[in-house]
Amino acid sequence: MNVLVLGSGGREHALSWKIAQSPQVEKVYIAPGNAGTAEVGENVVLDSKNHAAVAAFCHEHAIEFVVVGPDDLLADGIVDFLEKEHILVFGPTKAASEIEWSKAYAKQVMQEEGIPTARHRVFASSEGALAYLKTQQPPYVLKADGLALGKGVIIAQTKEEAEEAIRSMMDMKVHGEAGSRIIIEEFLEGLEISTHALSDGERALLFPSSKDHKRAHENDEGPNTGGMGTVAPVPIVPAEQMKLIEERIVLPLLSALKKRGRPFKGLLFPGIMLTKYGPMVIEFNARFGDPETQSYMLLAKSDIVPALLASARGDLSGISLEWNEGAVACVVMASGGYPSAYEKGKEIQGVGDASDAHTVVFHAGTKRDEAGVLRTNGGRVLNVTATGTDLTEALANAYAGVAKISFEDAQFRSDIGASVF
Ligand code: AMP
Ligand code: GLY
Repeated sequence: MNVLVLGSGGREHALSWKIAQSPQVEKVYIAPGNAGTAEVGENVVLDSKNHAAVAAFCHEHAIEFVVVGPDDLLADGIVDFLEKEHILVFGPTKAASEIEWSKAYAKQVMQEEGIPTARHRVFASSEGALAYLKTQQPPYVLKADGLALGKGVIIAQTKEEAEEAIRSMMDMKVHGEAGSRIIIEEFLEGLEISTHALSDGERALLFPSSKDHKRAHENDEGPNTGGMGTVAPVPIVPAEQMKLIEERIVLPLLSALKKRGRPFKGLLFPGIMLTKYGPMVIEFNARFGDPETQSYMLLAKSDIVPALLASARGDLSGISLEWNEGAVACVVMASGGYPSAYEKGKEIQGVGDASDAHTVVFHAGTKRDEAGVLRTNGGRVLNVTATGTDLTEALANAYAGVAKISFEDAQFRSDIGASVF
Protein backbone atom coordinates (compact mmCIF):
# COMPACT_ATOMS: atom_id res chain seq x y z
CA MET A 1 0.00 0.00 0.00
CA ASN A 2 0.91 3.64 -0.26
CA VAL A 3 1.15 5.53 3.04
CA LEU A 4 1.01 9.25 3.78
CA VAL A 5 2.79 10.55 6.91
CA LEU A 6 1.83 14.07 8.06
CA GLY A 7 4.47 16.20 9.78
CA SER A 8 8.01 17.46 9.35
CA GLY A 9 10.04 16.61 12.42
CA GLY A 10 12.44 13.96 13.61
CA ARG A 11 9.45 11.92 14.75
CA GLU A 12 8.07 11.83 11.22
CA HIS A 13 11.45 10.91 9.73
CA ALA A 14 11.74 8.01 12.20
CA LEU A 15 8.17 6.86 11.51
CA SER A 16 8.49 7.05 7.74
CA TRP A 17 11.92 5.33 7.87
CA LYS A 18 10.38 2.42 9.78
CA ILE A 19 7.15 2.33 7.75
CA ALA A 20 9.12 2.26 4.47
CA GLN A 21 10.84 -0.97 5.61
CA SER A 22 7.53 -2.83 5.82
CA PRO A 23 6.95 -5.46 3.13
CA GLN A 24 3.34 -4.24 3.04
CA VAL A 25 4.38 -0.76 1.95
CA GLU A 26 4.96 0.27 -1.63
CA LYS A 27 5.62 3.97 -1.21
CA VAL A 28 5.65 6.55 1.59
CA TYR A 29 4.68 10.16 1.01
CA ILE A 30 5.51 12.74 3.67
CA ALA A 31 3.81 16.13 3.94
CA PRO A 32 5.71 18.37 4.24
CA GLY A 33 8.67 16.28 5.50
CA ASN A 34 12.31 17.40 5.62
CA ALA A 35 15.59 16.59 3.84
CA GLY A 36 15.77 13.24 5.66
CA THR A 37 12.27 12.05 4.81
CA ALA A 38 13.04 12.77 1.15
CA GLU A 39 15.48 9.84 1.33
CA VAL A 40 12.88 7.30 2.48
CA GLY A 41 9.92 8.51 0.44
CA GLU A 42 8.56 11.45 -1.47
CA ASN A 43 7.99 14.81 0.19
CA VAL A 44 4.82 16.56 -0.88
CA VAL A 45 3.59 20.10 -0.49
CA LEU A 46 0.19 19.81 1.10
CA ASP A 47 -1.67 22.09 3.51
CA SER A 48 -2.55 19.66 6.29
CA LYS A 49 -4.99 22.20 7.75
CA ASN A 50 -7.00 21.83 4.57
CA HIS A 51 -8.57 18.44 5.25
CA ALA A 52 -10.33 18.27 1.90
CA ALA A 53 -6.99 18.79 0.12
CA VAL A 54 -5.43 15.95 2.13
CA ALA A 55 -8.34 13.65 1.26
CA ALA A 56 -8.12 14.62 -2.43
CA PHE A 57 -4.38 13.86 -2.41
CA CYS A 58 -5.08 10.43 -0.89
CA HIS A 59 -7.65 9.62 -3.56
CA GLU A 60 -5.37 10.78 -6.38
CA HIS A 61 -2.32 8.84 -5.17
CA ALA A 62 -4.07 5.63 -4.09
CA ILE A 63 -3.09 6.20 -0.45
CA GLU A 64 -4.66 3.58 1.76
CA PHE A 65 -3.26 4.66 5.09
CA VAL A 66 -2.51 8.04 6.70
CA VAL A 67 -0.33 8.40 9.81
CA VAL A 68 -0.72 11.70 11.67
CA GLY A 69 2.36 12.96 13.58
CA PRO A 70 1.68 16.31 15.30
CA ASP A 71 -0.83 17.13 18.05
CA ASP A 72 -2.30 20.25 16.43
CA LEU A 73 -3.58 18.27 13.44
CA LEU A 74 -5.36 15.85 15.79
CA ALA A 75 -6.90 18.74 17.74
CA ASP A 76 -8.02 20.13 14.42
CA GLY A 77 -10.06 17.00 13.65
CA ILE A 78 -8.16 15.64 10.66
CA VAL A 79 -8.79 12.05 11.76
CA ASP A 80 -12.55 12.62 11.96
CA PHE A 81 -12.54 14.13 8.46
CA LEU A 82 -10.48 11.38 6.81
CA GLU A 83 -12.53 8.65 8.49
CA LYS A 84 -15.69 10.17 7.01
CA GLU A 85 -13.96 10.00 3.64
CA HIS A 86 -13.36 6.27 4.26
CA ILE A 87 -9.59 6.72 4.41
CA LEU A 88 -7.90 4.57 7.03
CA VAL A 89 -6.01 6.83 9.42
CA PHE A 90 -3.77 6.31 12.44
CA GLY A 91 -4.46 8.65 15.35
CA PRO A 92 -7.26 9.63 17.73
CA THR A 93 -10.32 11.69 16.84
CA LYS A 94 -10.61 15.29 17.94
CA ALA A 95 -12.74 14.26 20.92
CA ALA A 96 -10.36 11.47 21.99
CA SER A 97 -7.33 13.76 21.65
CA GLU A 98 -8.91 16.30 24.02
CA ILE A 99 -6.96 14.35 26.64
CA GLU A 100 -3.93 16.25 25.26
CA TRP A 101 -5.37 19.52 23.97
CA SER A 102 -7.20 20.39 27.18
CA LYS A 103 -5.25 19.83 30.36
CA ALA A 104 -8.37 20.76 32.37
CA TYR A 105 -10.32 17.98 30.63
CA ALA A 106 -7.49 15.49 31.24
CA LYS A 107 -7.41 16.45 34.93
CA GLN A 108 -11.17 16.11 35.25
CA VAL A 109 -11.18 12.61 33.74
CA MET A 110 -8.28 11.52 35.95
CA GLN A 111 -10.00 12.87 39.04
CA GLU A 112 -13.31 11.16 38.20
CA GLU A 113 -11.55 7.85 37.54
CA GLY A 114 -9.04 7.90 40.38
CA ILE A 115 -6.06 7.92 38.01
CA PRO A 116 -3.05 9.11 40.04
CA THR A 117 -1.98 12.68 39.21
CA ALA A 118 -1.00 15.88 41.04
CA ARG A 119 -3.81 17.60 42.99
CA HIS A 120 -4.99 20.63 41.05
CA ARG A 121 -7.41 23.54 40.61
CA VAL A 122 -8.63 25.11 37.36
CA PHE A 123 -9.07 28.90 37.03
CA ALA A 124 -10.87 30.96 34.40
CA SER A 125 -9.75 34.37 35.74
CA SER A 126 -6.44 35.75 36.96
CA GLU A 127 -8.11 37.10 40.15
CA GLY A 128 -9.09 33.60 41.25
CA ALA A 129 -5.71 32.15 40.34
CA LEU A 130 -3.78 34.93 42.16
CA ALA A 131 -5.90 34.54 45.29
CA TYR A 132 -5.38 30.76 45.32
CA LEU A 133 -1.63 31.19 44.88
CA LYS A 134 -1.50 32.95 48.28
CA THR A 135 -2.64 29.72 49.95
CA GLN A 136 0.05 27.58 48.25
CA GLN A 137 3.74 26.86 48.78
CA PRO A 138 6.53 26.91 46.14
CA PRO A 139 7.49 25.49 43.73
CA TYR A 140 4.30 26.50 41.93
CA VAL A 141 3.27 24.51 38.84
CA LEU A 142 1.18 26.60 36.41
CA LYS A 143 -0.20 25.21 33.17
CA ALA A 144 -2.08 26.78 30.29
CA ASP A 145 -5.12 24.62 29.55
CA GLY A 146 -4.64 24.40 25.77
CA LEU A 147 -1.83 23.56 23.34
CA ALA A 148 0.99 26.10 23.65
CA LEU A 149 3.82 24.71 21.52
CA GLY A 150 5.32 22.99 24.56
CA LYS A 151 5.70 26.33 26.37
CA GLY A 152 2.53 26.31 28.46
CA VAL A 153 4.02 24.95 31.69
CA ILE A 154 5.79 27.20 34.20
CA ILE A 155 7.45 25.92 37.35
CA ALA A 156 7.89 29.04 39.47
CA GLN A 157 10.22 29.07 42.46
CA THR A 158 8.85 32.32 43.91
CA LYS A 159 5.39 33.86 44.35
CA GLU A 160 6.41 36.88 42.25
CA GLU A 161 7.46 34.66 39.34
CA ALA A 162 4.19 32.72 39.60
CA GLU A 163 2.08 35.90 39.69
CA GLU A 164 3.90 37.22 36.66
CA ALA A 165 3.26 33.93 34.80
CA ILE A 166 -0.45 34.02 35.66
CA ARG A 167 -0.79 37.58 34.37
CA SER A 168 1.10 36.89 31.18
CA MET A 169 -0.93 33.76 30.39
CA MET A 170 -4.38 34.99 31.46
CA ASP A 171 -4.35 38.77 31.02
CA MET A 172 -1.68 39.32 28.36
CA LYS A 173 -2.64 36.08 26.56
CA VAL A 174 0.92 35.14 25.57
CA HIS A 175 -0.41 31.73 24.50
CA GLY A 176 -3.63 33.13 23.03
CA GLU A 177 -6.81 31.25 23.96
CA ALA A 178 -4.75 28.30 25.25
CA GLY A 179 -4.18 30.35 28.41
CA SER A 180 -7.73 31.56 28.98
CA ARG A 181 -8.00 28.82 31.60
CA ILE A 182 -5.03 27.75 33.70
CA ILE A 183 -4.31 24.92 36.08
CA ILE A 184 -2.35 25.29 39.28
CA GLU A 185 -1.14 21.98 40.60
CA GLU A 186 0.98 20.31 43.20
CA PHE A 187 4.69 19.84 42.41
CA LEU A 188 5.63 16.18 41.96
CA GLU A 189 9.04 14.83 42.89
CA GLY A 190 10.66 11.79 41.34
CA LEU A 191 12.07 10.39 38.12
CA GLU A 192 10.25 11.65 35.03
CA ILE A 193 9.82 9.11 32.22
CA SER A 194 7.91 8.84 28.96
CA THR A 195 5.65 5.90 28.22
CA HIS A 196 3.94 4.97 24.97
CA ALA A 197 0.95 2.69 24.50
CA LEU A 198 -0.59 1.77 21.19
CA SER A 199 -4.33 1.41 21.52
CA ASP A 200 -7.33 0.28 19.52
CA GLY A 201 -9.79 2.07 21.80
CA GLU A 202 -9.74 -0.67 24.41
CA ARG A 203 -6.58 -2.77 24.47
CA ALA A 204 -3.06 -1.41 24.93
CA LEU A 205 0.37 -2.50 23.77
CA LEU A 206 2.92 -0.83 26.02
CA PHE A 207 6.35 0.09 24.66
CA PRO A 208 9.43 -0.19 26.90
CA SER A 209 10.13 2.83 29.13
CA SER A 210 11.98 5.84 27.73
CA LYS A 211 13.34 9.09 29.02
CA ASP A 212 13.43 12.47 27.37
CA HIS A 213 15.69 15.34 28.48
CA LYS A 214 13.57 18.46 28.19
CA ARG A 215 15.86 21.19 29.46
CA ALA A 216 18.16 22.86 26.96
CA HIS A 217 21.40 22.47 28.93
CA GLU A 218 23.39 19.91 30.92
CA ASN A 219 22.28 19.00 34.46
CA ASP A 220 18.70 19.89 33.53
CA GLU A 221 19.42 23.59 33.44
CA GLY A 222 18.09 26.19 31.05
CA PRO A 223 14.68 26.53 29.44
CA ASN A 224 12.29 23.70 28.55
CA THR A 225 12.55 22.48 24.95
CA GLY A 226 10.67 19.97 22.83
CA GLY A 227 13.28 17.43 23.98
CA MET A 228 17.07 17.29 23.65
CA GLY A 229 17.56 13.52 23.66
CA THR A 230 16.10 10.21 24.69
CA VAL A 231 17.11 6.77 25.86
CA ALA A 232 15.10 3.56 25.79
CA PRO A 233 14.62 1.40 27.75
CA VAL A 234 15.49 3.25 30.99
CA PRO A 235 17.77 0.92 33.00
CA ILE A 236 16.58 2.09 36.43
CA VAL A 237 12.87 1.60 35.71
CA PRO A 238 11.81 -1.85 36.93
CA ALA A 239 9.26 -3.92 35.00
CA GLU A 240 6.87 -3.71 37.98
CA GLN A 241 6.62 0.06 37.52
CA MET A 242 5.62 -0.41 33.89
CA LYS A 243 3.00 -2.93 35.01
CA LEU A 244 1.61 -0.38 37.50
CA ILE A 245 1.50 2.27 34.76
CA GLU A 246 -0.49 -0.10 32.57
CA GLU A 247 -2.90 -1.17 35.32
CA ARG A 248 -3.43 2.12 37.15
CA ILE A 249 -3.09 4.63 34.33
CA VAL A 250 -3.26 3.36 30.74
CA LEU A 251 -6.07 0.80 30.95
CA PRO A 252 -8.29 2.90 33.27
CA LEU A 253 -7.90 5.90 30.96
CA LEU A 254 -8.77 3.88 27.86
CA SER A 255 -11.88 2.48 29.50
CA ALA A 256 -12.81 5.95 30.79
CA LEU A 257 -12.63 7.44 27.29
CA LYS A 258 -14.56 4.53 25.80
CA LYS A 259 -17.24 4.96 28.46
CA ARG A 260 -17.46 8.66 27.57
CA GLY A 261 -18.12 7.80 23.93
CA ARG A 262 -14.68 8.88 22.67
CA PRO A 263 -12.60 5.70 22.40
CA PHE A 264 -8.89 6.39 21.98
CA LYS A 265 -7.34 4.77 18.93
CA GLY A 266 -3.75 5.72 18.26
CA LEU A 267 -0.73 6.34 20.40
CA LEU A 268 -1.29 7.33 24.01
CA PHE A 269 1.81 8.93 25.53
CA PRO A 270 1.51 9.43 29.27
CA GLY A 271 4.29 11.56 30.75
CA ILE A 272 4.89 9.96 34.15
CA MET A 273 6.57 10.93 37.40
CA LEU A 274 7.74 7.91 39.37
CA THR A 275 7.08 9.26 42.87
CA LYS A 276 7.42 7.62 46.27
CA TYR A 277 3.65 7.08 46.12
CA GLY A 278 3.92 5.23 42.79
CA PRO A 279 3.61 6.40 39.17
CA MET A 280 1.63 9.62 38.66
CA VAL A 281 0.53 11.32 35.44
CA ILE A 282 2.21 14.63 34.55
CA GLU A 283 0.27 14.91 31.30
CA PHE A 284 -1.26 12.83 28.54
CA ASN A 285 -0.18 13.25 24.93
CA ALA A 286 -2.28 11.79 22.13
CA ARG A 287 0.59 11.14 19.69
CA PHE A 288 4.10 9.76 19.41
CA GLY A 289 6.78 11.66 21.33
CA ASP A 290 9.54 13.59 19.64
CA PRO A 291 12.38 12.53 20.16
CA GLU A 292 11.05 9.40 21.94
CA THR A 293 9.93 7.96 18.59
CA GLN A 294 13.44 8.20 17.15
CA SER A 295 14.68 5.82 19.86
CA TYR A 296 11.63 3.57 19.69
CA MET A 297 11.81 3.04 15.93
CA LEU A 298 15.39 1.75 16.26
CA LEU A 299 14.47 -0.39 19.26
CA ALA A 300 11.48 -1.98 17.48
CA LYS A 301 12.26 -5.39 16.02
CA SER A 302 8.78 -5.92 14.57
CA ASP A 303 7.39 -4.33 11.48
CA ILE A 304 5.40 -1.40 12.91
CA VAL A 305 2.86 -1.23 10.08
CA PRO A 306 0.62 -4.19 11.10
CA ALA A 307 0.32 -2.68 14.60
CA LEU A 308 -0.50 0.82 13.31
CA LEU A 309 -3.08 -0.61 10.92
CA ALA A 310 -4.66 -2.74 13.65
CA SER A 311 -4.94 0.29 15.91
CA ALA A 312 -6.58 2.32 13.16
CA ARG A 313 -8.99 -0.54 12.40
CA GLY A 314 -9.86 -0.83 16.08
CA ASP A 315 -8.65 -4.36 16.71
CA LEU A 316 -5.22 -5.04 18.19
CA SER A 317 -6.08 -8.61 19.23
CA GLY A 318 -3.43 -11.00 17.95
CA ILE A 319 -0.91 -8.20 17.46
CA SER A 320 2.30 -7.99 19.45
CA LEU A 321 5.41 -5.85 19.20
CA GLU A 322 8.88 -7.29 19.63
CA TRP A 323 11.81 -5.17 20.75
CA ASN A 324 15.51 -5.64 20.11
CA GLU A 325 17.82 -6.62 22.93
CA GLY A 326 20.09 -3.86 24.19
CA ALA A 327 19.30 -0.16 24.20
CA VAL A 328 18.97 2.92 22.02
CA ALA A 329 20.08 6.50 22.61
CA CYS A 330 19.15 9.61 20.65
CA VAL A 331 21.07 12.88 20.90
CA VAL A 332 19.45 16.00 19.45
CA MET A 333 21.68 18.51 17.67
CA ALA A 334 19.98 21.91 17.70
CA SER A 335 20.64 25.37 16.29
CA GLY A 336 22.56 27.70 18.63
CA GLY A 337 20.06 29.72 20.67
CA TYR A 338 17.22 27.15 20.54
CA PRO A 339 14.58 27.21 22.08
CA SER A 340 14.83 31.03 21.78
CA ALA A 341 15.82 32.81 18.58
CA TYR A 342 18.25 31.00 16.24
CA GLU A 343 19.52 31.37 12.69
CA LYS A 344 18.72 29.02 9.83
CA GLY A 345 20.55 28.08 6.65
CA LYS A 346 23.85 26.84 8.13
CA GLU A 347 25.62 24.21 6.08
CA ILE A 348 25.62 20.76 7.70
CA GLN A 349 28.52 18.37 7.21
CA GLY A 350 29.22 14.78 8.19
CA VAL A 351 25.76 13.18 8.25
CA GLY A 352 26.87 10.44 5.85
CA ASP A 353 30.00 9.68 7.92
CA ALA A 354 27.95 9.46 11.10
CA SER A 355 25.57 6.84 9.70
CA ASP A 356 26.58 3.20 10.07
CA ALA A 357 25.25 -0.21 11.15
CA HIS A 358 24.46 1.14 14.64
CA THR A 359 23.63 4.73 13.93
CA VAL A 360 20.82 6.43 12.03
CA VAL A 361 20.72 10.20 11.75
CA PHE A 362 17.09 11.28 11.71
CA HIS A 363 16.50 14.77 10.39
CA ALA A 364 14.24 17.39 11.98
CA GLY A 365 14.80 21.00 10.82
CA THR A 366 16.82 20.36 7.66
CA LYS A 367 16.48 21.33 4.03
CA ARG A 368 18.53 21.01 0.85
CA ASP A 369 19.22 24.24 -0.99
CA GLU A 370 19.03 24.55 -4.79
CA ALA A 371 22.59 23.27 -5.10
CA GLY A 372 21.69 20.19 -3.02
CA VAL A 373 23.65 21.34 0.04
CA LEU A 374 22.16 20.21 3.36
CA ARG A 375 21.30 23.18 5.59
CA THR A 376 19.72 23.84 8.98
CA ASN A 377 16.08 24.85 8.80
CA GLY A 378 14.73 24.76 12.36
CA GLY A 379 15.45 24.69 16.10
CA ARG A 380 16.04 21.00 16.49
CA VAL A 381 18.11 19.97 13.46
CA LEU A 382 19.30 16.35 13.68
CA ASN A 383 18.64 13.37 15.93
CA VAL A 384 21.69 11.11 16.09
CA THR A 385 20.18 7.79 17.15
CA ALA A 386 22.18 4.65 17.88
CA THR A 387 21.78 1.11 19.16
CA GLY A 388 24.12 -0.74 21.52
CA THR A 389 24.26 -3.99 23.45
CA ASP A 390 23.53 -1.82 26.49
CA LEU A 391 22.87 1.85 27.12
CA THR A 392 26.53 2.68 27.71
CA GLU A 393 27.38 1.37 24.25
CA ALA A 394 24.34 3.02 22.63
CA LEU A 395 25.36 6.38 24.10
CA ALA A 396 28.97 5.92 22.99
CA ASN A 397 27.78 5.14 19.46
CA ALA A 398 25.40 8.12 19.38
CA TYR A 399 28.07 10.55 20.62
CA ALA A 400 30.61 9.12 18.15
CA GLY A 401 28.06 10.06 15.45
CA VAL A 402 27.57 13.55 16.90
CA ALA A 403 31.35 14.11 16.82
CA LYS A 404 31.39 13.52 13.06
CA ILE A 405 28.69 16.11 12.33
CA SER A 406 29.23 19.83 12.24
CA PHE A 407 27.34 23.04 11.56
CA GLU A 408 27.94 26.55 12.87
CA ASP A 409 26.75 27.09 16.47
CA ALA A 410 25.52 23.50 16.84
CA GLN A 411 24.16 22.90 20.33
CA PHE A 412 23.64 19.55 22.04
CA ARG A 413 23.64 18.09 25.52
CA SER A 414 26.63 15.97 26.46
CA ASP A 415 24.82 14.27 29.36
CA ILE A 416 21.94 12.43 27.67
CA GLY A 417 21.19 9.27 29.65
CA ALA A 418 23.75 10.12 32.37
CA SER A 419 21.10 10.26 35.12
CA VAL A 420 19.42 6.90 34.49
CA PHE A 421 22.03 4.29 35.42
P1 AMP B 1 4.36 19.27 30.22
O1 AMP B 1 4.33 20.27 29.10
O2 AMP B 1 3.05 19.03 30.88
O3 AMP B 1 5.12 18.01 29.82
O4 AMP B 1 5.27 19.89 31.34
C1 AMP B 1 6.58 20.31 31.07
C2 AMP B 1 7.49 19.80 32.16
O5 AMP B 1 7.19 20.40 33.40
C3 AMP B 1 7.35 18.31 32.41
O6 AMP B 1 8.10 17.58 31.51
C4 AMP B 1 7.85 18.19 33.83
O7 AMP B 1 9.25 18.12 33.85
C5 AMP B 1 7.41 19.48 34.45
N1 AMP B 1 6.16 19.30 35.22
C6 AMP B 1 4.90 19.40 34.77
N2 AMP B 1 4.01 19.19 35.76
C7 AMP B 1 4.73 18.96 36.87
C8 AMP B 1 4.41 18.69 38.23
N3 AMP B 1 3.14 18.63 38.65
N4 AMP B 1 5.40 18.50 39.11
C9 AMP B 1 6.69 18.58 38.70
N5 AMP B 1 7.08 18.83 37.45
C10 AMP B 1 6.11 19.03 36.52
N1 GLY C 1 9.37 14.71 23.87
C1 GLY C 1 8.19 15.14 24.48
C2 GLY C 1 7.05 15.30 23.58
O1 GLY C 1 7.03 14.83 22.47
O2 GLY C 1 6.07 15.90 24.00
